[in-house]
Amino acid sequence: MTILEQNRLQTINGYRIVRLLDRGEGSEVYLAIREQDQQQVALKILPGRRMGEELTKFYVHAKKLARLRHPHIVHILDFGVEDDFAFLIMDYAPNGTLREKHPRGSVLAPETVNQYVQQIAAAIGYLHEQTLIHRDLKPHNLLVGPRGEVLLGDFGIAVVSHSLDPLYPEQYDFEGTVLYAAPEQLIGRPRRSSDQYSLGVIAYEWLCGECPFTGDFEALVEQHLHKPAPPLRSKNPALSPLIEQVVMKALTKDVEKRFPSIAEFAQALDWATAQVLTQKVRALPRPKRQFKSPRLFP
Ligand code: ADE
Repeated sequence: MTILEQNRLQTINGYRIVRLLDRGEGSEVYLAIREQDQQQVALKILPGRRMGEELTKFYVHAKKLARLRHPHIVHILDFGVEDDFAFLIMDYAPNGTLREKHPRGSVLAPETVNQYVQQIAAAIGYLHEQTLIHRDLKPHNLLVGPRGEVLLGDFGIAVVSHSLDPLYPEQYDFEGTVLYAAPEQLIGRPRRSSDQYSLGVIAYEWLCGECPFTGDFEALVEQHLHKPAPPLRSKNPALSPLIEQVVMKALTKDVEKRFPSIAEFAQALDWATAQVLTQKVRALPRPKRQFKSPRLFP
């Protein structure tokens, strides 16, 4: 049963609920209509009831998120609390998530992966400039915008919900998140480059159809902490070693050995992808001459 069904909520602060779009990690996202102008919006209800200090923390964090403006970040339009449940109103992204577009096991062309990484890295770089760390990057949190662009949804919200909801820990889908989590994050010391690691895991999965590590929660944590990720080309030998090198560098356990910033990771991937395309073009058979030179002296 959803939070709304349990609490018989149909309208929240002037937003009429239409249908459930998504749920996970204790939160629920609904398609809703803003009654004042009939505009479609996405309404996210965060898990757990919030009171006192928890409520203040929510307002401080939500205000900060609502100030973010970036072409690859879903805009937060409004936020509030109803019946002690905190909610956020976001732009509605009508084309679903990248997880829906590319189900588990899909292998994408390196150029497509590069295009996605460029957009996500631009959004994350902006968050980093605002002193925020995403900490929950995964294909499920990447929405497809109206023009087919990638939009970061749910940025930082996981931080709000996890820190505010010790009451409902059993509801979180930890495994979904831990697949993409950086080692330092798993021991409670996330930093900017943890987002680079997560984006590296996502790129790895898109390039070969598998995440670097599999297993239950404990097995995943153990591998992120201690086991080097299997080389990408061991899973997709057709892939260029240049692209492999870039992604593996983002997946290094030692944060100092990753790229200095997520922008540099994206630049390196862009360069490697361009090299591969150039090599492919060079390797194409040369077209046969179609015209004979005119006979000047008949
Ligand atoms: N699922 C999660 N957030 C969403 C949004 N803003 N629009 C559409 N679907 C979503």
